[in-house]
Amino acid sequence: MRLKDKVAIVTGSTSGMGRATALLFAREGAKVVVTGRNEERAKAVVDQIKSEGFEAIYVIVDTSKIEDIQTLVDKTLEAYGTVDILFNNAGALSITPLQDVTLEEWNNVFNVNVTSALVLVQKVAPIMKKKGKGVIINTVSVASFAAHHGFAAYIASKHAMAGLSKSMAWELGPEIRVNAIAPGLIHTAMVDSIGGPSSLQGMIDNCPLKRVGQPEDIANVALFLATDDSSFIDGQIIKVDGGFEI
Ligand SMILES: NC(=O)c1ccc[n+]([C@@H]2O[C@H](COP(=O)([O-])OP(=O)(O)OC[C@H]3O[C@@H](n4cnc5c(N)ncnc54)[C@H](OP(=O)(O)O)[C@@H]3O)[C@@H](O)[C@H]2O)c1
Repeated sequence: MRLKDKVAIVTGSTSGMGRATALLFAREGAKVVVTGRNEERAKAVVDQIKSEGFEAIYVIVDTSKIEDIQTLVDKTLEAYGTVDILFNNAGALSITPLQDVTLEEWNNVFNVNVTSALVLVQKVAPIMKKKGKGVIINTVSVASFAAHHGFAAYIASKHAMAGLSKSMAWELGPEIRVNAIAPGLIHTAMVDSIGGPSSLQGMIDNCPLKRVGQPEDIANVALFLATDDSSFIDGQIIKVDGGFEI
């Protein structure tokens, strides 16, 4: 029970790596706030956590609507009174070529992948600072380090989030530790939406480990970053990618 009685918000936890992390954090004793837009999936995650005897609530928030972020904080405080861990993990993919990206799509991707995390941190960090301790984890990507054809908005947003993670570490310490996880190819709904792992075989071939990652591979690292086992790690972007393109 490495997170006993901690309160953790995990954005984008209705599926994929956020869901796996919500389950793991709850099994380690945290009270978990599950979020996303899909109520059926959010409820299913909370039901599973409760069926195992652990604690969670869900809050439906569309993180592209920045004005709705306050609801997530309000409902968390109403239920649990504090926040100890924030995992900014919700993400929107964009596979539109540079020339065709509309401002609407660009703004949506940036709102979900970057701006919502900034606003959530602005609301949660003062609570953690006052307590004298807190942990923030952000999901970035291997797309924070390199570009590939056809993903301009996504790649720009993930580069931005990597920089923002470092700024957060500088400005929120010493009370709050901030680190980011950069997943490689992880088998989730996002990857299935573009044809599944086999359509990205090149990414698997470019890894020494020669396999697609699983959501639990990310959850395990998030747990490490959330606990005092990583107490001297701050401002880092940790690749969890099977050694992609080393
Ligand atoms: N899978 C990969 O290979 C990979 C690689 C690098 C980075 N990532 C990043 O990993 C993170 C998690 O993605 P995943 O792979 O686990 O995909 P996923 O299974 O599709 O999960 C994405 C999560 O984000 C939530 N989300 C998306 N748009 C949202 C919005 N507007 N408002 C609120 N929640 C929203 C989704 O919830 P709802 O659908 O309920 O709204 C879902 O819970 C993302 O930041 C992604 O960019 C993934």
